[in-house]
Amino acid sequence: MMEDLSQYVQPGRVHRHIYTDPAIFELELERIFGVAWTYIGHESQVKKPGDYFRTFIGRRPVVLVRDDEGEIRVIHNQCAHRGSLVVANDKGNASEFQCCYHGWTYHLDGRLKAVPLQHGYPRDFDINNPKTAMVHVPRVQSYRGFVFASEARDGPGLEDFLGYMTTSLDDLVDRAPDGEVEVAGGVFKHAYDGNWKLYLENLCDAAHPLFTHRSSIDAAQQQSDEVYSDGSGEIALRQMRQNGAPYSFWESQVGIWTYPNGHSYLGDYHDDTKLVAALQEPAFRDYITAMESKKGKAETRRVLEVRRWNSNVYPSLSFMSQFQQLRVVHPIAVNRTVVHTYNFRLKGAPEKMFRNTISFANTVNGTGSLVLTDDLEIYNRIGMGLSSAGAEWIEIGRGLRTDLPDAHGGKRGHNSTSEIYIRNMLDAWLNYMTNDHDAIRPVS
Ligand code: FES
Ligand SMILES: [Fe+2]
Repeated sequence: MMEDLSQYVQPGRVHRHIYTDPAIFELELERIFGVAWTYIGHESQVKKPGDYFRTFIGRRPVVLVRDDEGEIRVIHNQCAHRGSLVVANDKGNASEFQCCYHGWTYHLDGRLKAVPLQHGYPRDFDINNPKTAMVHVPRVQSYRGFVFASEARDGPGLEDFLGYMTTSLDDLVDRAPDGEVEVAGGVFKHAYDGNWKLYLENLCDAAHPLFTHRSSIDAAQQQSDEVYSDGSGEIALRQMRQNGAPYSFWESQVGIWTYPNGHSYLGDYHDDTKLVAALQEPAFRDYITAMESKKGKAETRRVLEVRRWNSNVYPSLSFMSQFQQLRVVHPIAVNRTVVHTYNFRLKGAPEKMFRNTISFANTVNGTGSLVLTDDLEIYNRIGMGLSSAGAEWIEIGRGLRTDLPDAHGGKRGHNSTSEIYIRNMLDAWLNYMTNDHDAIRPVS
């Protein structure tokens, strides 16, 4: 590893070691995932006291739980006795947590409740001593139901960290006639043999679909339109066909915006009236009726005219507000990453809208997706390619001199295929990696 980390990122290029060096990966866990606001889960996953959900901050296991008082907590998933994982199920409801090794039992807020054979411990052993409790993650905040946690005791709050990206989360929630969303259905889990940064870099990459996803583009273009009949086929076909739009379209019609702390979003790349609004099925008309009756015509129009594709909240989250998809990035090793994808139901919308969400998920995020599998293969190939003795520097200069300021404190690509979003993530990377703490910049 080079002594001076700032040498790894230079104008228009980045050193490949930041994707391959295990020592840099360990440092990222400490300086990025150990500091930033990391996405934990959604409040709807822990509706009732005792509901819990197990996840990770970086590689550290934590539990999201609603305690007896209805408070949401994020607790390190480690027994205060000899360190076993306490909560082993992915999710559930419990009245208390019990460690499977020697039976230490904890209240839902992590305080120790009971210890078998307590008489055997030294006289001053006290189950009310905070040192015998499961440890809380120091800062936990929600934005419109999305729970984030930070292991940094001080620093800017969640909204300062999110900055203008709050508007992408707003877009996801505002699409619900009742103004609320909930996690529904199952979770897709996939893994690849490559670095975690590759995933976020791909989600805003408008230069790859036409090339990478060629096989599903060809198949969808050859498929007759009759498959449209149930509505779900329309979403899959239109999505896959539109990946085949010409380069001239990708360059000029999509839009790429970036913001402080590494965040970014890509515009919708569907022409005509865009993918969601173009659905002419009865359920969509019923949905608009429900929206207008709850929010009025003008607000409904405003909400449905927001046209974002993937929004990235660096370093842990990528979501797609129009079809209510959310993916969480879990770094496992320098060349191993796991991604979990969740779907949200729009409260107050016809049930068919959720079926469309699932249909979209199956098309682009599912384990049997004809699209995602291409991207996973790319991540694996980058993982392998970077382990060769090829060029040391990776090129990220497309659009470098033409980036433009954005009205909301960020920058956007003059051209939608600009690699500005990678440069922006690497600016954040450098900022985190070269500061031991307080790496998050508030957005003024
Ligand atoms: S390690 Fe948990 S009770 Fe012993
Ligand atoms: Fe892709």
